[in-house]
Amino acid sequence: MSINIQAVKGTQDALPKDTHKLRILEQTIAEIAGNYGFAEIRTPVFEYTDLFCRSVGDTTDVVQKEMYTFEDKGGRSITLRPEGTAGIMRAFLERGLFNESMPQKLSYFTSCYRYEKPQAGRLREFHQFGVECFGTENAAADAEIIALADEIFGFFGIQNLKLQINSIGCPTCRAEYHKVLKEYFESKKSELCTTCLSRLERNPMRILDCKSPVCSEIAKEAPKVLDYICDDCSEHFEMVKKYLTAMNINFEINPTIVRGLDYYTRTVFEFVSTQIGAQGTVCGGGRYDGLAEELGGSHTPSIGFAMGMERLVMLLEAQSIDLPQANKCDLYIAPANEEASLLAAKIATDLRCEGAFVLFDVVGRSIKSQMKYANKIGASFTVVLGEDELSSGVAQLKNMETGETQEIEVNRIAEDFSSIAIQAAVGSLSAESFEGLDINALLGGKI
Ligand code: HAM
Repeated sequence: MSINIQAVKGTQDALPKDTHKLRILEQTIAEIAGNYGFAEIRTPVFEYTDLFCRSVGDTTDVVQKEMYTFEDKGGRSITLRPEGTAGIMRAFLERGLFNESMPQKLSYFTSCYRYEKPQAGRLREFHQFGVECFGTENAAADAEIIALADEIFGFFGIQNLKLQINSIGCPTCRAEYHKVLKEYFESKKSELCTTCLSRLERNPMRILDCKSPVCSEIAKEAPKVLDYICDDCSEHFEMVKKYLTAMNINFEINPTIVRGLDYYTRTVFEFVSTQIGAQGTVCGGGRYDGLAEELGGSHTPSIGFAMGMERLVMLLEAQSIDLPQANKCDLYIAPANEEASLLAAKIATDLRCEGAFVLFDVVGRSIKSQMKYANKIGASFTVVLGEDELSSGVAQLKNMETGETQEIEVNRIAEDFSSIAIQAAVGSLSAESFEGLDINALLGGKI
């Protein structure tokens, strides 16, 4: 019987060249978010299905069509998280984070699962960086969250990303809007898809983000929520705009943004690119003042966003933005026999403890092929340990960039290598020489 050894449709492997990039992105993003007071939270990859039905909303595409839901062996309905906010709100309520001082600012990197039609930038397993700020309805918090996303994109030098904002009001003003929206869609009833027909009664706003081409064409002419928001929501939106202006953040108002998840109230926003194809929304978020109560907690106005890591990487590639290269091997030790290999293992261990990137042959290759390999991986220095070197106690340390060699005592390689490497890097005065040489690590323990 043949087995299917392909990756599941809509999933991706992150190979070492990708994970290096992702790690840099994640570290940088986490650091920037830390400067805004966000601390990381991790929640389970699966939750009870009800959580998503209640929070994301059971008339949304996500809940109706896209969730990976299964029954576990105990007969419970479980769903792989289609997004991060619901699980984090669940943890906030269940773990009593509401007892801590507000606002609670939480950040996360998560994998998410949605059974969508895969295409460029749209996967069934994808990854998000997100933040959630619990416990404030102040417009300053909305602007601060947007400023964080803006700073992240700015830090990497990403250009031509449009920030679009809108307000979708609160349940009070939404009631009036639903009425006019329903009237509008009633007049187009014969053209709507079957899912939207059922939405017409229960939640006409969801028709606005239906992915069917006919429904989305009809939705373009629908009344806009911004024209129906109440005075309080309008004032809140004005304040968000004032804060964004004060923070020098360019934005445009897009009254068609309603977002595809039910929990949103008031401010919603998206960062959109035209450079990565049809799935151009790199980051989306908004306020969700009623979610905590919806899940049985007390009133906790909140706001957050999530950015798609795969789309962020696509954008960096589209704009040819390079991230720093992975560290290169500082020293490759080429042993010619077993005794030399044991010594190489000891030297490698000692130098690695100092933070240097050191490799020695663990395959049993000839010296010639070891040197070929060292060259291929771009090792900065090599040293051969053969019979002659072991008997004389002296080896040749080769600077692979300049081709120069210098004598080094075999028994002092671990002690002397770091300072030689630092001298070589400083002496060459060439920026490239520093590449791959972890100066800080080499200096570590010396100063
Ligand atoms: P969302 O708009 O559904 O919002 O997703 C946020 C981001 O995740 C999108 O802008 C996009 O970059 C990425 N994304 C979504 N679906 C896919 C997919 N199938 N493949 C690749 N990337 C995708 C949320 O998830 C909300 N929880 C955001 C939020 C946090 N709102 C408040 N707090």
